[in-house]
Amino acid sequence: MCGIVGYTGPRDASEVLLSSLRRLEYRGYDSAGIAVIGEHLAIHKDKGELAVIEHSLPSMHGGIGIGHTRWATCGRPSQENAHPFTDCSGTIALVHNGIIENYAALKKGLLDRGHIFSSETDTEVIVHLVEERNSGDLREALVSALSDIKGTYAIVLAMEGSEKIVAARKENPLVIGVGVGENFVASDVTALLEYTSKVLYLMDGEVAEISPSKVTIFDASGQTVRRVPEMVTWTAEDAKKGGFAHFMLKEIFEQPEAIRNTLIGNVDRLEQDEGVLGEDVPAIKLVACGTSYHAGLVGKYVLEKLGKIPTTVELASEFRYSSDVREDPLVIVISQSGETADALAATREARRRGLHTLAITNVVGSTMTREAEETMYTRAGPEIGVAATKTYISQLVALYLTAMRIGHRRRTIDADTLRNMRTELTSLPQVVRRVLDNSESVMEACGMIAQSRDAFYLGRNISYPVMLEGALKLKEISYIHAEGYAAGELKHGPLALIGPDTPVVAACMRDHTYDKMIANLSEVKARDAPVIAIANEGDEEIEQVADKVIHIPEVQPLFSPFPLSVATQLIAYHVANLKGCSIDKPRNLAKSVTVE
Ligand code: F6R
Repeated sequence: MCGIVGYTGPRDASEVLLSSLRRLEYRGYDSAGIAVIGEHLAIHKDKGELAVIEHSLPSMHGGIGIGHTRWATCGRPSQENAHPFTDCSGTIALVHNGIIENYAALKKGLLDRGHIFSSETDTEVIVHLVEERNSGDLREALVSALSDIKGTYAIVLAMEGSEKIVAARKENPLVIGVGVGENFVASDVTALLEYTSKVLYLMDGEVAEISPSKVTIFDASGQTVRRVPEMVTWTAEDAKKGGFAHFMLKEIFEQPEAIRNTLIGNVDRLEQDEGVLGEDVPAIKLVACGTSYHAGLVGKYVLEKLGKIPTTVELASEFRYSSDVREDPLVIVISQSGETADALAATREARRRGLHTLAITNVVGSTMTREAEETMYTRAGPEIGVAATKTYISQLVALYLTAMRIGHRRRTIDADTLRNMRTELTSLPQVVRRVLDNSESVMEACGMIAQSRDAFYLGRNISYPVMLEGALKLKEISYIHAEGYAAGELKHGPLALIGPDTPVVAACMRDHTYDKMIANLSEVKARDAPVIAIANEGDEEIEQVADKVIHIPEVQPLFSPFPLSVATQLIAYHVANLKGCSIDKPRNLAKSVTVE
């Protein structure tokens, strides 16, 4: 779950590495480092964010280099444990993302053979193994070292006296940026966009030799692979803050466009019958983690309502423990990054069980797109803030389209309903825009939450999973303990915790759940808890039970998760901002969770 970069060419490598790493900090930010080869190999690394090493950067001249931004998995964040690592001779440098499972045994052997280690990490064994196997060809040395390694990796190596950098991947992403007279490698394309849009994705088991004028890719058996570079349509501007205080706020405001792009990319397949969604399956299982799991919970309501198809939702990390007895031959794995280790493991498990797999992801070329039988792209553009916002809303769109497509094929919705739903989806960008226009007034409701240690989020029916997601968003960026609850469950336990210090955020949509929500809020008010109601425009009755009301546009009940989600995202953002939290990089979290 770290970010790695490499460069070889005529530019000052340290500048390229630092600028590329800036785009990868979302992958980890507890330490950072770079290695540059000029006359000799020089390394600069430290604990803390990238800015720490930038401020103390010594003069490091040279056109070849590798860099790393870390999210600690093995060994605490410290200067010693920061990457890059070197061998005993100090001539080979290595950065790694992943986990070496058998590192303890390997380290013992290396120590017995006289190697000296400087860190507590699993990674350091790789560079020492490479040193032992090196007889001048860095790629061969790496391939030989990898044959002893059990685990997962994306690795980039550089060696004094060589203009080539060498890269290898297994279950962790790596993409090569192809330039003119220079080449790059990085954990994802956002790190490369400033320099090139031409990329080559490295596949599992492949090793690449990258020099300024040439990229050669070798497969697991050592044969060269011919691969044509692909053009990336994201621009460097897409990956910058564009005038917003935080990436998260920018991404919240990009949601109208994200919805539109997901629609444009997928809507024309609504009436098509081919592929995994064309199969006549008796049930569906949605599998995901975190926010993507919450998107799945919303998706279940929609799939069952429109497709009349039994749908279960499972946490990806739990899927492997479930018994292989249920009839759900289509597994839809939802993952914005397409790299989440638990989601990838679930995809593999589903295939092992002989089930059809469809990936819903935002990242073209991500590992999941190769693991799953089919992929549906959300096309929300790069998301840099650790908290998922626009990718989540795009996942909802993808799931609604999936439900409509299945409903059409199973004839559980007629042509008029399909048309009507399509119109409703097409109007969502404007609906969301109206919620965003109200952002300042959302802020007014946030003071009472910002002062609290705990908060409750309540909803019924399809609003319930939306409130689970609202609570997760608040937790992760404001560090306030928040619990999402089905409002009907309140009196079955959590009511014991409700009081003047526990604000309650409640979804009160004007549908068949409205009266019951009002009754629940009366119970909450009777315990003096502050109530923030998210209600439809024009609803005045709600004022009687709420201390603050956030009004959102009224849409067909099935589509209310869209404006409602955006309101809860704004609440989380403003609360975290009032508290001065590190919004884009919340503590202990990383954007792409590539460990199980
Ligand atoms: C929360 C968040 C995480 C991710 C989760 C799954 O804001 O971003 O909960 O949703 O780690 O990530 P993906 O969707 O990349 O599999």
